[in-house]
Amino acid sequence: MIDPWSSALVDYEKLIQQFGIKPFQELLGDIEDPSLLMRRGIIFGHRDFGRIIKALREKSPFAVVTGMMPSGRMHIGHKMIVDQIIWYQKMGAEIYIPIADMEAYSARGVEFEESRKIALEEYITNYIALGLDFSLKNINTYLQSENQDVNYLAYQLGRRVNWNEMKAIYGFNGSTNLSHLYVPLIQVADILHPQLETYGGPKPTVVPVGPDQDPHIRLTRDIAERFKNRFNFITPSSTYHRFITGLTGGKMSSSKPKTAIFLTDSPEVAEKKIRTAKTGGRESLQEQKKLGGVPTDCVVYEMLLYHLVDDDQELAEIYKQCTQGQIMCGECKMQAASKVRELFEHLTRKREQARDEALKVLEG
Ligand code: TRP
Ligand code: SF4
Repeated sequence: MIDPWSSALVDYEKLIQQFGIKPFQELLGDIEDPSLLMRRGIIFGHRDFGRIIKALREKSPFAVVTGMMPSGRMHIGHKMIVDQIIWYQKMGAEIYIPIADMEAYSARGVEFEESRKIALEEYITNYIALGLDFSLKNINTYLQSENQDVNYLAYQLGRRVNWNEMKAIYGFNGSTNLSHLYVPLIQVADILHPQLETYGGPKPTVVPVGPDQDPHIRLTRDIAERFKNRFNFITPSSTYHRFITGLTGGKMSSSKPKTAIFLTDSPEVAEKKIRTAKTGGRESLQEQKKLGGVPTDCVVYEMLLYHLVDDDQELAEIYKQCTQGQIMCGECKMQAASKVRELFEHLTRKREQARDEALKVLEG
């Protein structure tokens, strides 16, 4: 069982073997202009992504739904989701961004007013700064609590989901509060509502998520089947991305500040954090010259891979220099730090302009 509200580390191989998630690698050749996260294997798995490839190829309508739970500060790992939405936006998708204030309330105890504030000041502001364009027609951002269509649909869908199922999927038990019990249905409705007639009717839909969200995806796909006759739903697709490693080697988590680079960190702080990150370097310089470093076990390299180096060739060069012992971690960190600084200077500047724009996103 995977618990979407806990923070345990995940075993990606196991997910593929036990839960029927398919390796993304196999599809790569069929995608015309794959995104960086796809090319680099950071998006490692999928369900039914073939449907989306078909829509991309035929330039027919498809939707992307990816929610955010406004429960804390955004760290650099959260940037991955935004990068994906931006890619899909360029590809002409309809974008839906639910803000999970109902989930934050029932699973984390965040008040609704607080959720709205965090969503605007932290999430949407950063989304804009990272390059997402909220001025386009085909992007829908909403608070779950304010979306009547989603709530109405969730209630209807609940008719065919029972308690035993919720226990089996989420490990809910006798002391789970009732709001929490209900909240997965809201997420199911987030994902399915773009297929309602008012939103243009049935269409392929993809949900890019971290693997912790897979229980919701499985439930959604089951429910879509159950209501096929009623709503004509096309079973939604999903993709799964790896989590980013924290600065100290474990999971990056907003609730453990030492592990995270926050998007609102100043360029100086972000740079300093990279310099203290755990590397895949050897015990001594001598040894590193002889054996090379281990980039696959290096937080700095992962940062380059996910976020800092767009050019595949440049990245391959760094990898080679590292594994052949031609570059030492000190110098490599310096280079990464200057890239981090650039990125964060850019973000800080953009965020200044983004604040006013963000306020408009949730109006009307
Ligand atoms: N549960 C998600 C999270 O914890 C947020 C979310 C709400 C979501 N609705 C969604 C994710 C729909 C994907 C699709 O962050
Ligand atoms: Fe990581 Fe760079 Fe050291 Fe290689 S040289 S282990 S990539 S910090």
